[in-house]
Amino acid sequence: MRSALVLVAFASLSYASTPSARDVPLAKLYTACKNPGHVALTFDDGPWTNNKKISDMVSNAGGNCTFFMNGNNWDCIYNSYNGTNYTAVIQYAIAAGHQIASHSWSHKDLTTCDNVTMGQELDWMNTALKKVAGVIPAFIRPPYGAYNDDVLKACGARNMSVVTWDSDSEDSWANANASNSKAAYDRQIRASQGSMMILNHETVDFTWYDFLMLDLGISST
Ligand SMILES: *[C@@H]1O[C@H](CO)[C@@H](O)[C@H](O)[C@H]1NC(C)=O
Ligand SMILES: *[C@@H]1O[C@H](CO)[C@@H](O)[C@H](O)[C@H]1NC(C)=O
Ligand SMILES: *[C@@H]1O[C@H](CO)[C@@H](O)[C@H](O)[C@H]1NC(C)=O
Ligand SMILES: *[C@@H]1O[C@H](CO)[C@@H](O)[C@H](O)[C@H]1NC(C)=O
Ligand SMILES: *[C@@H]1O[C@H](CO)[C@@H](O)[C@H](O)[C@H]1NC(C)=O
Ligand SMILES: *[C@@H]1O[C@H](CO)[C@@H](O)[C@H](O)[C@H]1NC(C)=O
Ligand SMILES: [Zn+2]
Repeated sequence: MRSALVLVAFASLSYASTPSARDVPLAKLYTACKNPGHVALTFDDGPWTNNKKISDMVSNAGGNCTFFMNGNNWDCIYNSYNGTNYTAVIQYAIAAGHQIASHSWSHKDLTTCDNVTMGQELDWMNTALKKVAGVIPAFIRPPYGAYNDDVLKACGARNMSVVTWDSDSEDSWANANASNSKAAYDRQIRASQGSMMILNHETVDFTWYDFLMLDLGISST
């Protein structure tokens, strides 16, 4: 699988503007990679204790990946836990060429949030990434992939593009183990239209360890 695929992040980080005008454009929406032949490996729901291992594995395989992070999901982004300082691992991932993007502050379904809460979900996360890494994300994957026009407006007002996925390791909703994930990848590679944007979760041990390391043969350092 590795030789056939080029791993890329779909864009680099850039600074987003702050919300201002009422009359803002809807956020740009990406539901697939822009370029044929490309695979975007994405990992949601962190930062968590596996982040550095995943960064290293993907780097060692010659690729870059995207982490869609929360401010307060499995843990608070400002914390340090079990030997993992999230500030340090986020800076490490960026230095290694990986992309950090938003997955909202606390993983709420944004389509159910009132405007104030939606603003907090977006702004608190961007503030956190600015504080810990000096960057403001250009992309957000809304939790559950759920968006509507209000979400697109709120993200557009912050100059953020909205990203979903078109391929799924099934490591979350389907509770896939590593062999299930590999089967899902194989099935979706065959069915794909020539590019894949794949949903994984950095918080699922099967994903980062059994699947990436044992099945794909990507090693950690
Ligand atoms: C909006 O984002 C795009 C792409 O990330 C960037 O090129 C542009 O400079 C940004 N515009 C503003 C006003 O921040
Ligand atoms: C905490 O660290 C220990 C020792 O490195 C490891 O075995 C354990 O899996 C870690 N727990 C979590 C939740 O990462
Ligand atoms: C994490 O590391 C940064 C420096 O890399 C340090 O400033 C910060 O205090 C650490 N945070 C915790 C919670 O230990
Ligand atoms: C990964 O990111 C680094 C640093 O930005 C870059 O030099 C390298 O070309 C990227 N690799 C791929 C496969 O895009
Ligand atoms: C929420 O914001 C949207 C634009 O982002 C606007 O169309 C809508 O009227 C607002 N709703 C409320 C209750 O303010
Ligand atoms: C993975 O789950 C499937 C059922 O979906 C099971 O048949 C298989 O034995 C499991 N594999 C491993 C390595 O646990
Ligand atoms: Zn998520």
